[in-house]
Amino acid sequence: MSDATTNASQSGQEEPLKNVLVTGGAGYIGSHVVYTLLKTRQYKVISIDNHHNSLPASLTRVSELALEEHKASLGPNAQLSQRDIDSTIIDAHDCDLTNHSAVREIFGKYYSSENGKGGIWGVVHIAAYKAVGESTSIPLTYYQNNVSATISLLSIMLEFNCARLVYSSSATVYGTPPEVPIPERTRREADSPYGRTKVMCEMVVEDLCESNGNAVADGTCHLVVSLVIRFHHLTTTTTGSTSTPFQAISLRYFNPAGAHPSGRIGEDPRGRPGNLLPLLAHMAVGRVKDPVLKVFGNDYPTVDGTCVRDYLHVLDLAGGHVLALQALQEGSTLNGKVFASVKAGKGKFKAYNLGKGKGMSVLQIVEAMRKATGFEYKTEVVGRRRGDVPALIADPSLARTELGFDAPHDLETMCRDLWNWQKGNPAGYV
Ligand SMILES: NC(=O)c1ccc[n+]([C@@H]2O[C@H](COP(=O)([O-])OP(=O)(O)OC[C@H]3O[C@@H](n4cnc5c(N)ncnc54)[C@H](O)[C@@H]3O)[C@@H](O)[C@H]2O)c1
Repeated sequence: MSDATTNASQSGQEEPLKNVLVTGGAGYIGSHVVYTLLKTRQYKVISIDNHHNSLPASLTRVSELALEEHKASLGPNAQLSQRDIDSTIIDAHDCDLTNHSAVREIFGKYYSSENGKGGIWGVVHIAAYKAVGESTSIPLTYYQNNVSATISLLSIMLEFNCARLVYSSSATVYGTPPEVPIPERTRREADSPYGRTKVMCEMVVEDLCESNGNAVADGTCHLVVSLVIRFHHLTTTTTGSTSTPFQAISLRYFNPAGAHPSGRIGEDPRGRPGNLLPLLAHMAVGRVKDPVLKVFGNDYPTVDGTCVRDYLHVLDLAGGHVLALQALQEGSTLNGKVFASVKAGKGKFKAYNLGKGKGMSVLQIVEAMRKATGFEYKTEVVGRRRGDVPALIADPSLARTELGFDAPHDLETMCRDLWNWQKGNPAGYV
């Protein structure tokens, strides 16, 4: 686990917990991010999830896990303080992000109109639909859920003077990259509606940072403008105008894999898994009954002809979110480092690749899962799949040098932890 996940109480910090909203908190990545945030003992975590692709039980388990680990770290006779308890209880809201008034109500719950204090300090925006194939069949649903909901969320953040955002982006923003390993400066040219929702959201967020928190003056995005005008009345009458400059960090995930080593939280997709590793886990546990795994193409210019992807442990990925939130603390060393390259008068927006910088082929993954599960997978090579690119590998050097990000867990550990979760929970959280 990265340094970011170490227990902050060890350093004797007792400043008030900061309220952090995690959207999509009950999902695969969200639950591990929430767990990692709880471990820092610096945040009060609030989650919004409509359970489109998750169950509330994930956050119940996260909370139990965090409390047990905290008690164990304090010793058998230690008394838990109110802060200890608050920092392990998650305020989980069953709410759809596309429902503007319901989300606004949640922000209002934490906001003190007297002094503007105690509101939501920052947002980690993870919720989205994420299936590339599905997005080509129902693009409007994807634009609505991923882009419109993000714009709605941003306008509410402005209204409540919440000006720090960590955004869940994806390597899909690069489409077919001209250069591998892929540096962040690569042009964004996604190949699918899903990927384009990520590009659009990054651009909207970037424009918002550029406008220094004054979205009305932005003018670059029709929808942002109309939303802000619609809520201008509320903005000025309820909370006063937004004063803190908006700053954001976009994290471009490569391929998160694995689970918490306890096996109590993990990936539990509704329906057939779209990604290779959970599919292999479901095959091994008998939940997917396909007799053979279809391998799409073995004539790519890669180590064994099959596609290569950059896998990183989901807890390493989660650690990147803690670092990003720390980097949004104005005046901190990390804040200075991350935004050092931003010219004066420009918006504070940065994007970082979160990957290991190492590629694994489909056949290497199958072999690693065979070792972890003992299941003898049968594979059948079929034709290439439309849209697949030979290799997607991150250049993680910027995240390493500026953010201090590291992804030390190896593939063997990812497969072990994934299997530990899957065999202990063959039907998922139910
Ligand atoms: N898993 C990956 O391989 C991967 C790779 C790159 C980027 N990402 C991005 O990471 C994020 C999380 O991915 P994940 O794998 O954890 O997916 P997930 O489906 O497990 O989690 C997403 C969560 O968001 C919730 N959600 C979706 N729409 C919502 C809405 N309108 N209102 C409230 N909640 C809503 C879902 O119920 C789910 O709990 C997504 O933004 C995805 O695009 C994932």
